[in-house]
Amino acid sequence: IRLISQWKCLENFIQENVRSGMEEIKRTAVHTQTAAMLEMGTNLLSQSAEQTRKLTDVETQVLNQTSRLEIQLLEYSLLTNRLEKHILEQTQEISRLSEKNSFLEQRLLGLEAQYGRELRGLESEKEQLQELVQRQSHTVSQLQAEVGSSVRNSTLMQRQQAALMDTVQQLLAMVNNCKEISSVPSGDLLTFRDCAELLQSGATDNGVYTIRLPNSTQTVKVFCDMKTGGGGWTVLQFRGNGSVDFHRGWRDYKTGFGEPSGEHWLGNDIIHKLTNSKEYSLHIQLKDREGDEAFSHYEHFYIDGEENNYSLHAENYSGTAGRMSSLAHSGTQFSTKDRDNDRCTCRCAQLASGGWWFEACGPSNLNGVFYPSSTSAVRYSGIKWYYWKGPNLMATMATMMVRPANFKRPDVR
Ligand SMILES: *[C@@H]1O[C@H](CO)[C@@H](O)[C@H](O)[C@H]1NC(C)=O
Ligand SMILES: *[C@@H]1O[C@H](CO)[C@@H](O)[C@H](O)[C@H]1NC(C)=O
Ligand SMILES: *[C@@H]1O[C@H](CO)[C@@H](O)[C@H](O)[C@H]1NC(C)=O
Ligand SMILES: *[C@@H]1O[C@H](CO)[C@@H](O)[C@H](O)[C@H]1NC(C)=O
Ligand SMILES: *[C@@H]1O[C@H](CO)[C@@H](O)[C@H](O)[C@H]1NC(C)=O
Ligand SMILES: *[C@@H]1O[C@H](CO)[C@@H](O)[C@H](O)[C@H]1NC(C)=O
Repeated sequence: IRLISQWKCLENFIQENVRSGMEEIKRTAVHTQTAAMLEMGTNLLSQSAEQTRKLTDVETQVLNQTSRLEIQLLEYSLLTNRLEKHILEQTQEISRLSEKNSFLEQRLLGLEAQYGRELRGLESEKEQLQELVQRQSHTVSQLQAEVGSSVRNSTLMQRQQAALMDTVQQLLAMVNNCKEISSVPSGDLLTFRDCAELLQSGATDNGVYTIRLPNSTQTVKVFCDMKTGGGGWTVLQFRGNGSVDFHRGWRDYKTGFGEPSGEHWLGNDIIHKLTNSKEYSLHIQLKDREGDEAFSHYEHFYIDGEENNYSLHAENYSGTAGRMSSLAHSGTQFSTKDRDNDRCTCRCAQLASGGWWFEACGPSNLNGVFYPSSTSAVRYSGIKWYYWKGPNLMATMATMMVRPANFKRPDVR
């Protein structure tokens, strides 16, 4: 644009110069046409050289401008390159970031998948547990139903049991009635102090019973003779077949030995307690090989305690086994093979055998040796009851028993 305007200016300048020259030429035309023309020509030439110089300047300026523009252009292009490079870097950064982003996204996805799987596992577990719980509650309700049924059954059984109990009680009442009707005694056997009380209470059969000693909790099994002379006899001693050894020491005679159902000695302590609780009678029965039977009866009988060596007290004799008593007199002490309290230097218990109230050594010993009936020889150590059959007695049975002196046979019912 500057060039064009310069050009126009130049043109105007030229036109003006030309116009003014023409006017001068017109004014001096005639005079100095040729000289003028030459001068004009020289002017024109110098002017054109000027013009040329000016043109060259302009050209130079243009070139300077151009080169400056080029330089600027170059700078711009350099700047542009730098910017492009920068943009490229930014782009790369962006792409790196986006790569990173996608990696993170993938990881996120992976984690999501994993958690999803775990979640699904947990959910399935939860479902299983729920199923289990349902099954369990089902079982529980079944059990509850069974329990209810059991309770019903048990109440049924309780009712049945109650009915049975009623029946049993009715039966018991009937049994009691029967007892009353047949007068069979009932009650605690342990309250009887001897066989006489048992007989009074209605026990009429011979046999072994339990009594309780007076003023004591001690119970004793005794054989009761409920037949002889009205019964009620508590048996202290029995010999029948020789099965029991009677050649024993003090302790055995103190506490007793043998069985009440067979041959036995009831025991000196028991005999003492029994016969001291009230007045007792003693009854002795004997049998011999010839089949003879006899008895000796003592209206009053008791023995002292051990502190008095079980001294004998038997009074008011009667009976068929001799015109007089074969027992030692009152106060005779008891002796055994290991406790000699007799009035003989011979030790009767060892000589005659057994434990007894020996004097020196006296006319009796119902605890002597039981010789079998086949032996004929008379022995000093055998069972002895002198005033019945003298020294030749071959006893096959001997028994001692007591009952209260004031015994009254109960009415036969
Ligand atoms: C262009 O012109 C400037 C002044 O306007 C001068 O300083 C410079 O040297 C010139 N450049 C050239 C290449 O002639
Ligand atoms: C209850 O009794 C009935 C029959 O009486 C029986 O079938 C049922 O099994 C019983 N129930 C239980 C829990 O014993
Ligand atoms: C002796 O008599 C008792 C019962 O009285 C009996 O148990 C026992 O077997 C008899 N013994 C002998 C040797 O006969
Ligand atoms: C039993 O005890 C009573 C009272 O304690 C007494 O009077 C009685 O003599 C005693 N009998 C015997 C045998 O000890
Ligand atoms: C009882 O017998 C023993 C010997 O066996 C004797 O030492 C004691 O004095 C006797 N007791 C009485 C009261 O005689
Ligand atoms: C017992 O015998 C004595 C004499 O030893 C006599 O005085 C008494 O009357 C007799 N008693 C009876 C009940 O027979």
